[in-house]
This record gives sequence, structure tokens and C-alpha cells, in this order.
Amino acid sequence: MLSYTARNLDKNPGKTVLFLHAFPLSAEMWSQQIEALAKAGYGALAPNVYGVDGSPERDTWNFLGYVTDVSILLSSLNLQSVTVVGLSMGSYQAFTMFKHFPQRVTSLVLCDTRAEADSEAAREARYEFIDALMRKGSEEAVSRMVPKFFAERTYTENPALVDRVSSLIRTQKPEAIASQLRALASRDDSTFMLKSINCPTTILVGDEDKITPPGIASDIHGRISKSEFHLVKGCGHLPNLENPEAFNEFLLGHLERVYTHD
Ligand code: MLT
Repeated sequence: MLSYTARNLDKNPGKTVLFLHAFPLSAEMWSQQIEALAKAGYGALAPNVYGVDGSPERDTWNFLGYVTDVSILLSSLNLQSVTVVGLSMGSYQAFTMFKHFPQRVTSLVLCDTRAEADSEAAREARYEFIDALMRKGSEEAVSRMVPKFFAERTYTENPALVDRVSSLIRTQKPEAIASQLRALASRDDSTFMLKSINCPTTILVGDEDKITPPGIASDIHGRISKSEFHLVKGCGHLPNLENPEAFNEFLLGHLERVYTHD
């Protein structure tokens, strides 16, 4: 069974939010969102991918296998359908969940992501990353990812956050990070399924995101009919951590839109 963080699941099972984390982080990245949602009366569940914080280790896996296990986890907790919030890799999983388990998805919040599969060059870069990780350890993932993650001002104004995210990556086993890179490289294209997304959807992106820039998010917005689009100001790729107040406001606004019109 996958390891996870959860709050308030018994109180309101019909209003539960599933948080899917980014590469190469963990459910811990959602702690401020889980707290805010619990205060507002929502349930929250944030699983960890394989090999992370107690989830079973797997050398090779894909997003369909993972969301199948997430669906089993939902059943074991008596949860039928949830709002799925995914950031970057978490949204790749959210697309897979919508494709294969649409009945599980009440609504979607897609953050800092893209719908395309990896290009051949991107796949090669993932495999080169895996080689370097296996030679040099998880510090390699810190040095490759952290300089790209944040808006410029986050590095100077919030070094504690930069340190927190660096330690979060450092504590992962290189094998677990490598297995996520294999899953990322093998993922399907989701561009063509965007038009089939018929549940309420909010798209969020940091206005200074260098990994998945706002133009990509705005393209996704254009392809999903029931979607809203918001820029999270002064943020890079991890707006839920860089500006949790603004991010939580958009998230709570989305939930209000979904659950007060039931
Ligand atoms: C993420 O933040 O999850 C990654 O940047 C996703 C990716 O590398 O495609």
C-alpha cells in the first residue's frame, strides 16, 4: 500500500482532495495546502510515489500502475470520487487518472504542467540524468532541479524554502528518483484527451515558471472547455510553496465553485 499523509477523511468523504506531488519531491510539499483545507472543512489525502517516504520500492513503474494503486488506496479509505490536485508530474498522473478512472475525478486542479509526452531528446536527457544519479547520488538531483524550480526572488527572499526543498530531495534514495525519471520518460501524450475533460478544472501556474512556462498552461486552458486559468504571481515552478496564500486562495475558490453547486 502507498504511504500517505491525510487529514479529515472521516468528516467529509464527499469533499476530499487528492494531492499528487511533483518530481522529485513527496507528499510533504502539500503540507500548507492540507492545513488550509482542513481548516475549511475539506478532507485531504496526499500519497507518495514508489520508493518515497515508505511507499513500496519499484525499479520500473508507470503512471497507470501508480494511479491504479491510488485508486485502490481511495477504495480502502471509502472514498469514491475526489478533486485531484496535481503539480507537474502530479498532473501527468492526474491526466492518467482522468483517462482510466474518470468516475474517481470530481474536478481537477492542474498546476505547472504540460500535456505532451517527452520528445526523444527529453527522454535521452532523462536517461543521462539517471546515469549521473547512480554515479553521484541524490545530490545530483538537488543540483539539477533546485536552480530551475523557483522565481528569482525566491532564492534571495526565501532561502529557507530553497533549503527545505533541497533537503526534501536529498533524503530521497537515488534509485527512487531514477524510477520516477523512467516513469516520466515513458508517459503517454495527453494533449488529445484534454478536450474530453468535462469536469470543473482550474489551471494554475507560477508567472515565472521556467520548467513549464505560463504559455503551456494557457494552451491547456484553451483545450479544456470548463476550465479557469490563473497566474500565481511572483512564483516559479512550485507556487504552492512560494506563495501558499495566493495558491490556497485559488484552490479554495475552485473547491467552493465545485462543491457549492453540487
Ligand atoms: C516536476 O516538477 O514534476 C517535473 O519537472 C516534471 C518533469 O520533469 O517533466
